Amino acid sequence: MTPPPQFFILGASGDLTARKLIPALASLARQGREFSVLGLSRSPKTDEIFRAELRARMPDELLDGFDTLAPRIGYQSVDLSEAGQVEALRERAGAGGRLFYLALKPELFGSTVEALCQSGLLCRGVDESHWQRVVVEKPFGHDLASARRLNAELHKFIDEEQLYRIDHYLGKETVQNLLGFRFHNAIFDPLWSRHHVELVQITVAEELGLGGRAGYYDTTGAVRDMLQNHMLQILALIAMEPPATLAAESIRNQKVAVLRGLHLHDVGHNSVRARYTARGDTRGYLEEEGVATDSMTETYVAARAEVATWRWSGVPFLLRHGKRLPRKNTEVRIQFRTAPLQLFNRPEGMSEPDFRAQLEAGNLCQVRPNVLTLTLQPREAIGLSFGVKRPGNVMQMTPAELSFDYRDQFGETTAPAYERLLLDALLGDQTLFLRSDEIDASWRFADELRGGWDAAGAPMHEYAAGSWGPSAADDLFYGCEGGWGV
Ligand code: BG6
Repeated sequence: MTPPPQFFILGASGDLTARKLIPALASLARQGREFSVLGLSRSPKTDEIFRAELRARMPDELLDGFDTLAPRIGYQSVDLSEAGQVEALRERAGAGGRLFYLALKPELFGSTVEALCQSGLLCRGVDESHWQRVVVEKPFGHDLASARRLNAELHKFIDEEQLYRIDHYLGKETVQNLLGFRFHNAIFDPLWSRHHVELVQITVAEELGLGGRAGYYDTTGAVRDMLQNHMLQILALIAMEPPATLAAESIRNQKVAVLRGLHLHDVGHNSVRARYTARGDTRGYLEEEGVATDSMTETYVAARAEVATWRWSGVPFLLRHGKRLPRKNTEVRIQFRTAPLQLFNRPEGMSEPDFRAQLEAGNLCQVRPNVLTLTLQPREAIGLSFGVKRPGNVMQMTPAELSFDYRDQFGETTAPAYERLLLDALLGDQTLFLRSDEIDASWRFADELRGGWDAAGAPMHEYAAGSWGPSAADDLFYGCEGGWGV
């Protein structure tokens, strides 16, 4: 029998371990998954103390899972920069597969992987029963050049097949459903292109501010923190071609093709950066503790991009993300083209020829009744809007919606994103992890946007904390295209 795999958490004293990793692993243990856990960090502590610390942070509903796992949780104090200490680690390593989770600062990824390789615990190559894998958290680099350097550093020791780059959005049920929804429901297939789609909007709004991470955020900003990774992954799943199979490479090949085709024409005209200002008790970004007083970091980004592929050429993809917006909401809206002629809802008193002329001149906008809304979080829902005849003696069309809500259908079921991702990493499925070329293509776009702002001296707009962002972002919609859905 193959010995159970071992999960090494490097940086085990950090917040991520107690808040995300151990709860996900406790949930997997409750489902009967076999593995052990070894937490590694510099601070000295015993196995018992480590377990007690973790147990104290466990949500009540996972305590039984945690107690199942607890006897298989260990702790080793180690400084990987010291050769002698690696010995102790080797003694605690099992004979099964090994998964090294680097819950560390990205600056330490390279040297940590090197030390693990020198210890003989991690070797290049993929062996079915003695596999060795490395999971890394975002951010993977801070621009294209640094991401490439980091890749080269890691590839010196391990293969791409051993490297699992996390984007926790891919662990979310509703994000995975984008693939299922698109490629299982053939009725949408003929509609899913420039022929029928007028524009696509992707909003990732957060009510939260910096959450105590000013040091990180002020050197990162909205583009690098959210757009380059989570938002572009959502975009790739919306715009990709159908994969031939569900194999990881098949899906990732299609995603990267979209990311490579993503462009911004005229950055100055088609994007907006902004930061929040104080409102009520909420401080403005520049007043936050840990933010440089002359900071030029954006807490909001909106961009009108295009995907230069056969399917999407000419269709705007409007992306919007901000901190300190009125509420958390992650949503994709696919706005379909209008009917060739608007027959209905002529304003009272306007003649038919005048109505036509006004529409043609763009003084009147044709109604856009058909929007498919995929709400990814916190509400998990899908809605399709259309017009229906309002009962009465006149032909008056009014908006209506077909809607689906995960909670109504399945109850409270959606598992935390990390659970699925850690399971896949244990099983060796890379589908929900980012490949190096996806990261490259995403950074190319993010660099194009940020570089464009710097080159053009783009203004830093402002928005009051708790508002929906600067009004300049409304100008990214042209003519009768409408505006941001909330
Ligand atoms: C992280 C960002 O990757 O995602 C945070 O660094 C952000 O700034 C978080 O708040 C949002 O994640 P979620 O799952 O709450 O949408």
